[in-house]
Amino acid sequence: LLNLLNMEKDPVTVLVTGAAGQIGYALVPMIARGVMLGPDQPVILHMLDIEPAKEALEGVKMELIDAAFPLLKGVIATTDVVEACTDVDIAVMVGGFPRTEGMERRDVMSNNVSIYKAQASALEKHASANCKVLVVANPANTNALILKEFAPSIPDKNITCLTRLDHNRALGQISEKLDVHVSDVKNVIIWGNHSSTQYPDVSHATVTTDSREMSVSKAVSNDQWLKTEFIATVQQRGAAIIRARKLSSALSAASSACDHIRDWVLGTPKGSWVSMGVYSDGSYGIPAGLIYSFPVTCEKGEWSIVQGLKIDEFSRTKMDATTNELIEEKSLAYSCFNE
Ligand code: NAD
Ligand code: LMR
Repeated sequence: LLNLLNMEKDPVTVLVTGAAGQIGYALVPMIARGVMLGPDQPVILHMLDIEPAKEALEGVKMELIDAAFPLLKGVIATTDVVEACTDVDIAVMVGGFPRTEGMERRDVMSNNVSIYKAQASALEKHASANCKVLVVANPANTNALILKEFAPSIPDKNITCLTRLDHNRALGQISEKLDVHVSDVKNVIIWGNHSSTQYPDVSHATVTTDSREMSVSKAVSNDQWLKTEFIATVQQRGAAIIRARKLSSALSAASSACDHIRDWVLGTPKGSWVSMGVYSDGSYGIPAGLIYSFPVTCEKGEWSIVQGLKIDEFSRTKMDATTNELIEEKSLAYSCFNE
């Protein structure tokens, strides 16, 4: 109707933290071009980074202005967390403390706890009431859980983490194996943590060739490959990219973050699901209170976990292994809360 009346939609305000970093640099132009929210949705970008990256962040803002994006109605580049979070409708949390050589997991966690605690409070106080949050920065599931703990008034359902990159990687591997287009493969699942314990599961996935849909297991017809090499390749893909680029994945992470938000806000196509790290409600026996990657469908801005999928013994063992890692990460994070 707005189109018929030639009226513009109201802009949506999107926050990107860590916007001067490499994912940020790939992500902000995608958002400004309508890749995340659609080609008719104006956006205002809020970009947050820290003091040492202030000048670089200003440079990104200059480039956004220079690119003259028709959908971009405003840009804020700031190192002030309150200014960054004010009136935000969608928050993509990419900034965090990276693990560097020789650092213990506990030190990384402790740094991330202080960052996510402060940003959670700012979002809670200053963002829009129904703000949707996507955490990308690692450890993504546990950072999202910390954010949830310190932003109790943001609904649980609004806090998610990115496992869509792993989901897309799984689709990519199957499409390469079968020599079909990636859009002909659907309904893979990433269960659990965005880490090497994640379980990429194709037991319910299908592929369509010559208008015929069949199960991926039947089409690949190599159970051994599906149970070993395929799983390991998807689990280790982030590390393989780091080895090849000497930098971690950025364009695929940014693109998958857009996929995650787009499907969440605009809905998943009929008959297919995607993977999102969401607050567990106990489905499939996964303990409530973890941020765990599940198969979800989305409608009217809400995700729901796909119910009733059969879980065999092989899958259960893999799902439990990644659960155990998330329980450990959670207790490590909680032990840093009072530091
Ligand atoms: P990067 O180091 O290039 O950029 C990170 C940016 O965050 C930097 O500009 C840094 O200054 C900023 N930053 C640090 N602390 C901040 C804070 N308190 N507030 C705001 N900004 C802050 O890293 P990158 O390659 O862009 O990756 C970002 C994160 O995403 C990393 O944690 C990485 O491991 C993770 N990652 C996740 C996925 C996923 O699928 N979930 C995929 C790839 C990378
Ligand atoms: C990825 O999956 O590419 C990243 O999470 C890898 C990393 O360790 O940053």
